[in-house]
Amino acid sequence: ERPDLPELLTPRAMAALLPGRPGDAHKGSVGRVLVAGGHAAYTGAPVLAALGAHRAGAGLVTVAYPAELRLNLPLESVRHPLESWSAGALAGVRAEAAAVGMGAGPLAHAAAEAVLALRLPTVLDADALRPELVQAYVREGVPAVITPHPGEAARLLGGEAGAVAAEPLEAARALAERFPKVVVVLKGGPTVLAWKAGEGLEFAVNTTGNPAMASGGTGDVLAGVVAALMAAGLPPWDAARLGVYLHGLSGDRRGRVGLLAHELADALPEARAALE
Ligand code: APR
Ligand code: MG
Repeated sequence: ERPDLPELLTPRAMAALLPGRPGDAHKGSVGRVLVAGGHAAYTGAPVLAALGAHRAGAGLVTVAYPAELRLNLPLESVRHPLESWSAGALAGVRAEAAAVGMGAGPLAHAAAEAVLALRLPTVLDADALRPELVQAYVREGVPAVITPHPGEAARLLGGEAGAVAAEPLEAARALAERFPKVVVVLKGGPTVLAWKAGEGLEFAVNTTGNPAMASGGTGDVLAGVVAALMAAGLPPWDAARLGVYLHGLSGDRRGRVGLLAHELADALPEARAALE
């Protein structure tokens, strides 16, 4: 059995997915994002995810993180410091989509469970990429996008990162079959997407991005971008495809070795404008 030919993400197809910005838009109507993550060693990761969400057009970004951390958040983010990731810790957070796991380390499990209780379309990234957590989203029927790099994909599949990187289409397909209805974004150069909605399997391959993006934190930015697009109302498969395309386009517009993840995020509006 051989996979159907994957869709190559084209500018025309991706431009058609861009969420509109009507004249009467307000910050509560264009999509609010919850970012959940962070622990002592990784205080930058949730900040970069928040930046990605802001720069992808979110109306409001709330960041939930352990209260003892000092996060260097954008002035525009709403802070939600927590004593613990207990059930109910996120009660009252208003959002239409979430991203969880960035820099969460050993707290990722509790953070992902707390976010799952909100039943929002969610990006599971980084430390939240554990089979039992993705399975919990499948079981609960809550829409999810997973964004593993090859090492994280190998952890989800119980294989080797080298094998994933050598056969990314096969690995993406295996993940999509393992986690039905979950949108799989297998990151790399290029990023491959897969999704098993019903009987058939959808495949896509990104056409943007470059090796300058191989720098710490660019993946965290992507998680925020995809969450913002889901918060704006895009279905997970569309948000994932447009998100990886815009993220890579942003890298291509600024793509010089030495690119920093926050610069990639800051270039997102011009990448979007170029696509419009
Ligand atoms: N060509 C194109 N794109 C690339 C290339 C390349 N050669 N190399 C990397 N990228 C892109 C990927 O497609 C992805 O979008 O850069 C991003 C890298 O994401 P991650 O691998 O998640 O890296 P990072 O953001 O540094 O992760 C931060 O989270 O996943 C954990 O273990 C990771 O602790 C680390 C943290
Ligand atoms: Mg990462």
